[in-house]
Amino acid sequence: MIAPDLQERLRAVRHLVVFTGAGMSAESGIPTFRDRAKGLWAKVDPAEVATPHAFKKNPQFVWDWHVHLADAVSRARPNEGHAAVARLQEFVPRVTVITQNIDNLHQAAGSRTVIELHGNLMRLKAFVDVDELFSGDASPVICRICNGYAIDDELDPYAGPEDLAAIELHAGSVPHCPACGALLRPDVVWFGEPLDPGMLDDAFLAAETCDALICIGTSLEVEPAATLPWRALNRGALVIEVNPVSTQLSQSASASLSGGAAATLPLLLQSVWGSVAR
Ligand code: OAD
Repeated sequence: MIAPDLQERLRAVRHLVVFTGAGMSAESGIPTFRDRAKGLWAKVDPAEVATPHAFKKNPQFVWDWHVHLADAVSRARPNEGHAAVARLQEFVPRVTVITQNIDNLHQAAGSRTVIELHGNLMRLKAFVDVDELFSGDASPVICRICNGYAIDDELDPYAGPEDLAAIELHAGSVPHCPACGALLRPDVVWFGEPLDPGMLDDAFLAAETCDALICIGTSLEVEPAATLPWRALNRGALVIEVNPVSTQLSQSASASLSGGAAATLPLLLQSVWGSVAR
């Protein structure tokens, strides 16, 4: 499966980054984005459901689409690939998982350090309309429980974080923050929005200082996440790709393993560390 010299280098790795995309969770029943027939973006234009502009125009439509996705996510369980990623912690002193997925499955499988570059579908936050925020005369204050903005005397002083925590992503009208009244939205990164800068710095640093990076189930179509394997390669790290199809990385990677995550990752662990998947 993997050349003996690469196996040896992997056994010596002190800091391993595992970088994942939608293909990681495909065998858990969550559709990928760009599969030509069944991918999420084959069924709907992302501009209609995954941008701040779309939410501003039709919040209910965007909310309902995320509720539908959350249905698949809440039914999904980690697959053998997620389990294998978590088992890497038994063999490598430091493992950092950097995921573009918003489904919580790495954490559910037991991975302890997970950077969620594109957020988490099950968390909510206030929708901040940046144009409106800077257009009015009154100076807005930041709502203490949702980080949205409000005019001071609009804030409900009796609402607390527990009221916000009780609100979940489920079917029905788009909920509002109990303190400031802002519309709530899933805490995911939509097109045109920046990634959390602290998280992005951590991800860049991990990729640029690790000894090896395993890139699993991503088409590498979306920046800045897609730069991570190249950042690792440029610093001399070993880069292994796992994907049933080849990508722009395949030719440059130290090894490119063609196959699905659920079958390939346990085999990789077995061939390098003699681990049998549980
Ligand atoms: P894509 O849908 O673009 O790519 C999924 C990749 O997974 C493809 O390269 C497939 O070949 C591969 N794949 C499919 N089945 C697999 C399996 N069983 N095992 C391993 N790999 C498999 O998804 P991402 O690359 O994750 O952004 O997309 C990146 C971002 O684009 C997403 O995070 C999302 C999307 O728009 C946001 O929501 C911000």
